[in-house]
Amino acid sequence: MKDIEYIKEDLKKSIGEKLYIHCVNVMNTAADLAARYKEDVEKAKIAGLLHDCGKLLNQNIKNLEHASLGAEIAKSKYGVEDEEIIDAILCHTTGKENMTMLDKIIYIADKIEPNRKYEGLEKIRELAYSNIDRAVIKSLENTFKYLKSKNEDIDNKSLVSYEFLKNSFNSIQEERI
Ligand SMILES: [Fe+2]
Ligand SMILES: [Fe+2]
Repeated sequence: MKDIEYIKEDLKKSIGEKLYIHCVNVMNTAADLAARYKEDVEKAKIAGLLHDCGKLLNQNIKNLEHASLGAEIAKSKYGVEDEEIIDAILCHTTGKENMTMLDKIIYIADKIEPNRKYEGLEKIRELAYSNIDRAVIKSLENTFKYLKSKNEDIDNKSLVSYEFLKNSFNSIQEERI
């Protein structure tokens, strides 16, 4: 794998300054969350930094396509071989069934990095550190609400992630009772 400084310099050129700053913010937030949940901080950093590397400048890449393109670029251009990192990049926009902790960390770091501003953010930020499953559920609910208000379709993968998390969360609650 290319070293992180090389990746940073290259990213600045390929995705532009503004998105680059977002990626660095997601990298740092992902590192904090990884430390909180005793996950591999280095992996979280690489996945966070690269999560939007598929949003190439001056190319018309559809929102849901940038994740799969990003996973490709992470492999081919930056030499990332770790499948967990690739998977986390792949599912960062929609989530997926049975997300790993790293998947959840990248998904939520993207939604709560310091430059984000939207209604309900503070709650999700707080949940991210106390109960990351609930944070992902809440964040998906926010996305559904937003898409509904814009009359846009909800991606099937997001619905699957939501149902999966909701069900596993409910069964954990039941076990406690
Ligand atoms: Fe993204
Ligand atoms: Fe992002």
